[in-house]
Formats: sequence, structure tokens, C-alpha cells
Amino acid sequence: MKVSRAVWPARATISVLLIGGFALLCGCYERPPVETVQSGFRGIGDEQVINPRLDAQRYKKNQIPEPFPAADAEGPPATLVFQNIQVLKDLNIAQFTRVMQSMAQWVAPADQSCNYCHEEVMSSDAKYTKRVARRMLQMVRHINRDWRSHVGETGVTCYTCHRGQPVPEYRWYINPGQSSATGMIAGNAGKNKPSTVAGLSALPGDPYKDYLLGSENIRVQATQALRGSDFSSIKQTERTYAFMISVAQALGVNCNYCHSTRALEMWDQSTPRRVTAWYGIRLARDLNNNYMVPLTPTFPEHRLGVLGDVAKIACVTCHQGVFKPLYGVSMAKNYPELNGGDHPIGGLPPPGSTPGTSGDSATPAAPAAPSAPPVQPPPTAALVSQPELRRADP
Ligand code: HEC
Ligand code: HEC
Ligand code: HEC
Ligand code: HEC
Repeated sequence: MKVSRAVWPARATISVLLIGGFALLCGCYERPPVETVQSGFRGIGDEQVINPRLDAQRYKKNQIPEPFPAADAEGPPATLVFQNIQVLKDLNIAQFTRVMQSMAQWVAPADQSCNYCHEEVMSSDAKYTKRVARRMLQMVRHINRDWRSHVGETGVTCYTCHRGQPVPEYRWYINPGQSSATGMIAGNAGKNKPSTVAGLSALPGDPYKDYLLGSENIRVQATQALRGSDFSSIKQTERTYAFMISVAQALGVNCNYCHSTRALEMWDQSTPRRVTAWYGIRLARDLNNNYMVPLTPTFPEHRLGVLGDVAKIACVTCHQGVFKPLYGVSMAKNYPELNGGDHPIGGLPPPGSTPGTSGDSATPAAPAAPSAPPVQPPPTAALVSQPELRRADP
């Protein structure tokens, strides 16, 4: 049969559309099949949706480098031979050298190594990277000593965030938002501009500023039928949801990893992981306000954000898409040099220390106990120790 000339372009268009459509589907980030894993009671749909292919990629990306051989605990103190040691004063020469080698591997670009932070005269503080690194050493010790309520016995090292790069892949700056009014509105509260932070939704694109720099309350669900003492605005609610999406993405989990989604606000129906997350929010605030922001003048201009603010830390900076950074493998336990307390990560807490706090009685524990807001009981220790939520037996 002879095909008329007029039919060809139509056929060609359809073929192109079909092939194009197929290619588009194949290129989808989360192409099926996905799997579900039960994570709560049977029959109530408490499941985590996972994608085995993405999981495999993530697993590969989150392997730890071989630790340097342990340093001898005995030996002359580093301060004996070096001139300008301000933080690692408690280490001996071998331990000190081991930390330097590790930092070079974890943070500095391979072709620069020690020179990334050092001038020829090692004691010189001329390079800003060295001054930043000194504060980072204090920060890591602070996390491992005072934030056991979040990092547990796993702890962190420079590698948790840096992964072999001077600038951690996941960091955030304040989003400047729109510069001028559009249409009839003066401002759009950062909405309707899909941002990856909020899962490409139309929700506010910068949920971090209020919650991980500021300490705005994350409390929007009404706790009574009629409006009484609940005054949360729609704006606050939208911000909360945007932030929660960022949390779920940072950990590579669904909302019900922490919440019972029929009662998002209720602590006694949440999983113990939500309590860990509660501390995680306070941890990130502490790191940003007490470590990152004060470093702003130390950084050169090209490292700052559009508004001149320093790079900051969110859940994803450490977690990088995994429920526990590096799948909960503890690098810190191989690095007692970075623990900065008398209770090294991986060891047993000294008798009499409160679980979840420093274990170093000389330093006050940084995380304040959850303050009790009137409408909402704070996460309690009882909840933490509960392995999973239990339903009363009939
Ligand atoms: C990421 C930055 C960084 C890298 C990379 C680095 N250092 Fe350091 N180095 C520091 C900091 C910070 C101090 C000061 C520590 C303190 O104050 O406790 C220091 C101090 C020193 C000192 C003591 C100097 C003195 O007299 O005060 C020596 C020696 C040293 N480093 C050697 C090395 C060597 C060797 C390497 C490479 C294997 C290296 N460092 C890689 C940041 C770095
Ligand atoms: C909780 C996450 C986190 C940890 C842990 C951490 N850092 Fe950082 N670090 C950051 C962030 C965020 C920045 C800011 C990135 C930027 O703009 O340079 C940064 C910046 C730096 C820089 C400046 C890099 C540059 O080129 O501007 C150095 C050097 C550095 N860190 C060293 C260290 C060392 C050494 C350790 C371990 C003792 C460490 N960091 C641990 C988050 C972290
Ligand atoms: C890793 C744990 C975790 C995940 C995952 C998580 N949340 Fe949350 N969520 C929390 C914590 C912790 C709070 C309370 C924060 C506070 O009080 O500072 C909270 C609070 C909330 C609130 C406010 C409750 C109130 O009292 O008004 C809402 C709403 C919420 N989450 C929704 C979500 C949604 C929707 C998702 C999924 C997109 C999600 N959450 C994923 C930990 C989590
Ligand atoms: C400084 C690095 C760091 C930051 C920042 C951080 N976390 Fe974590 N988080 C950890 C480490 C390390 C663990 C593993 C603790 C353990 O093994 O007990 C952890 C564990 C958790 C867990 C427990 C997971 C489980 O399966 O039991 C949750 C939930 C969590 N983090 C949520 C958050 C949230 C939400 C944020 C941001 C608001 C956050 N984290 C920020 C380091 C961090």
C-alpha cells in the first residue's frame, strides 16, 4: 500500500512523541519498581517506601575510608615541640600527627594535602583554612562530648560532613527570595518557586532560616476543636511542612519514620526516632549559631552566600540521604583524639554520668533539657527507652 505524503509527518511526529515519552519515563529519577518495608504495626500502613537502585548507589557513596593506624597513647606531648597549638593540647606527638594526616585525607584536596592549611612555617596561622579548621576541631569535640543525645555512641569526624572535600557538598545559605514585587503581591514568602530543599513543592523554599538558625517553634497542629490558644498561621504551617520534607529527604525516609501520620503532633504516638530528631534540630541550631556564624569574618568573600552569610549546617550536611550518617558506622570510635572527653565514643560511660549528656563532668552539658511548652509534652526519657511504641493489649 502506498502511504500518502500527508500521513508521513503525522506518523513521524507520533513516533518521536512515543520514543521521547519513553525516554523521559526511563530518565525518571525514581523509576519503578519500588519496595515497601513494614516499619510499624501490621495492617496500619506503617511502611517505608524504598527504591533498591537508589539505595545501592547511596550505599556505595557512604563507605568510610580506612582509618590510620592507632597512635601510641604514651609519648611526649605535642606542645613540647610545636609552638602554636591551641586546641589539641592534650595530645602527644604521635596522636597529633595522626590527626593532621587524617584531616589532610578528610578535608584537603588531594593535590594540596598539608599545604591547604599550612604555610612553610607550620605554626603560622596565615591561611584562613587553618583558622577555620581549628574551630572545626573544637566543634567536632563539642559534638562528640556534649551531643550524645543525638550522635549517641556513633559520633562524628570531619569526614561525616566533608567526605574528602574542603567544602561540604550539602550546606545552605539564606535564600534571598524575590527581589521585587510580582503582580499584585508584595512578597510571596518564598513560595511557588519549586526548591529542591522542599522536595520541589510549592512550599516556602527556605525552611532552614527560621528553624536551624532561628528557633521558631515547630508546632502547628491544633490540639483542640475550637480555636483557643492555637494561633499558628497558615504561613507557619507551610514553613513547617517544607522543613519536614527537607528532614525526610535528608534522612532518606518517609514521614512515618518518626511520626504516626494520623497524629503528627503527638509525641506518645511518635517513634523514638522523633526524639533523636528533636535533639538534632537543637544540635544544628547550636552548630550554626555558635560555630558557623561567628566564623563569617574568617571566610573570604567568595565562600559566602548572596547575602554575605556563611555556609551553614542542616540535617543533610551530616546525614547525606541516610537515616544514620555513613549507615551508623562509627569512625569516631577509631579517633579518640577527636572525642575531647574522658568518655571516649565506643567506650562505656563513666559511672554516675547521665546517659545522653556529656559524660565529662567538667563541662556543662550543652543541650538544655527539652523545655516544656504548655500544649505539648516534650520528648521524655521514658519515650527514648521504649524500643517501639506498644499498643495496650486488648
Ligand atoms: C584542614 C586543615 C589542616 C590540614 C590539612 C593540616 N593541618 Fe596541621 N594544623 C591545622 C591546625 C588547625 C593546627 C593547629 C591545631 C591547634 O591549634 O590545636 C595545625 C597544626 C599543625 C602543626 C603544629 C605547628 C606548630 O608549631 O604549632 C604541625 C606540625 C602540623 N599541623 C602539621 C601538619 C601536617 C604534616 C599536615 C599534613 C599531613 C597537616 N598539618 C595538615 C590544620 C591543618
Ligand atoms: C557538621 C559538619 C562539619 C563537620 C563535622 C566539619 N566541618 Fe568543616 N565545614 C563545614 C561547613 C558547613 C563549612 C563551610 C563550607 C565553606 O564555605 O567553606 C566547613 C568549612 C571548613 C573549612 C574551610 C574550607 C574552605 O576551603 O573554605 C575547613 C578547612 C574545614 N571545614 C575543616 C574541618 C575539619 C578539619 C574538620 C574536623 C576536625 C571539620 N571541618 C568538620 C562543616 C563541617
Ligand atoms: C526524622 C524524624 C522526622 C521526620 C522524618 C518527619 N518529622 Fe515531622 N517532626 C519531627 C520532630 C522532631 C518534630 C517536632 C520539632 C520540634 O518540636 O522542635 C516534628 C514536627 C512536625 C509537625 C508539627 C507538629 C505539631 O506539634 O504541630 C508536623 C506537622 C510534621 N512534623 C509533619 C511532618 C511531615 C508531613 C513529614 C514528612 C514529609 C515529617 N513531619 C517527617 C520529626 C520528623
Ligand atoms: C553533626 C552531624 C549531624 C547532624 C547535623 C544531624 N545528625 Fe542526625 N545523627 C547523626 C549521627 C552521628 C547519628 C547516629 C546516632 C547513633 O548511632 O545513635 C544520627 C542519628 C539520627 C537519627 C536516628 C536514626 C535512627 O534510625 O535511629 C535521627 C532520626 C536523626 N539523626 C535526625 C536528624 C535530624 C532531623 C537532623 C537535622 C535537624 C539531624 N539528624 C542532624 C549526626 C547528625
